[in-house]
Amino acid sequence: MQRSGVKITIVGTGMVGASTAFAIMAGGLASDLVLVDIDHKKAEGEAMDLGDAAAFIKPLNIYAGTYEDVKDSQIVIFTAGANQKPGETRLDLLHKNVAILKDSMPRLVKHCPDAVYLMVSNPVDVLTYVALKITGLPANRVFGSGTVLDTSRFKDELSSYCGVDPRNIHAYIIGEHGDSEVALWSTASIAGMGLSQFTPLLGLAPVDRQEIARRVRTAAYEIIQRKGATYYAIALSIKRICEAILRDENSILTVSGLINGLYGINDVCLSLPCIVNGNGRDKVLTVPLSVEEEEGLRNSAQVLKQAVRQAGF
Ligand code: NAI
Ligand code: 2OP
Repeated sequence: MQRSGVKITIVGTGMVGASTAFAIMAGGLASDLVLVDIDHKKAEGEAMDLGDAAAFIKPLNIYAGTYEDVKDSQIVIFTAGANQKPGETRLDLLHKNVAILKDSMPRLVKHCPDAVYLMVSNPVDVLTYVALKITGLPANRVFGSGTVLDTSRFKDELSSYCGVDPRNIHAYIIGEHGDSEVALWSTASIAGMGLSQFTPLLGLAPVDRQEIARRVRTAAYEIIQRKGATYYAIALSIKRICEAILRDENSILTVSGLINGLYGINDVCLSLPCIVNGNGRDKVLTVPLSVEEEEGLRNSAQVLKQAVRQAGF
């Protein structure tokens, strides 16, 4: 049955794509959910399995499609391609996933030029830049999940240490979604207080910043070593970004997108706190950074620029 409403396409129905489909379905965000995968049978199987939840969810037309079925999607989520094997970095996936992107993006945009394109495959910052270059679409409509996931990991670590609901913690990870990411300690706050003011209130020793930043940075490696891939938390990160777009929420999320002229950084995609709404990644916020944080961000930009050059862009 065809319904009018919100159509979302997920390209790549591996662990991340399928988990994202589940999150979007359970959250009732879409009326139509199209699953596209080079392995069409896999996409069909996922659609059939998810479709069996029909009695427990809001009405949803979910099916395995081709690139032509992407037409009229409000959001296209790109999760196709290789994931990291134990010991690999995100940047190690560069060449394989750029090749997939070069093949897929023009076909997607041909059938759906007006969508918001949300990049998730790694290295996500580089692929976001490449997707922008390939498509020529405006930067507010092609952006990546960036450090939205890392920011959640950061809040989780601070929550465990401070004994406070992660939703009451304001703290961001910026820069690369990867090894050069930067934790913003200078603006991290709980109940309107900086961490060094907050922790004594609960009789806590100062936060071990190096250790927490390390745990956030290496979280994916630890998970991949144990179970081969990460997918649940990224799925909910993607759902959260879609929600902000579809409900025009003006939510502040650390998505990855094109930076030109901020902090002396030009022509690279990385994460900063951004306002996300119906326009997509609508505004980038130039948040105050300590000298160390700004240096870290510039280093991240350099790492990513080098990767973009390696990809031939
Ligand atoms: P997976 O191997 O389980 O699934 C990848 C899927 O892509 C497979 O079903 C495969 O058939 C499909 N695929 C390959 N080439 C395709 C093409 N040309 N067109 C359509 N589909 C194609 O991998 P997984 O675990 O789902 O990861 C997907 C990507 O997401 C990886 O690059 C991974 O590193 C990334 N990732 C990103 C995160 C983030 O925070 N940005 C978090 C977790 C994973
Ligand atoms: C993650 O951070 C591997 O990028 C993926 O979970």
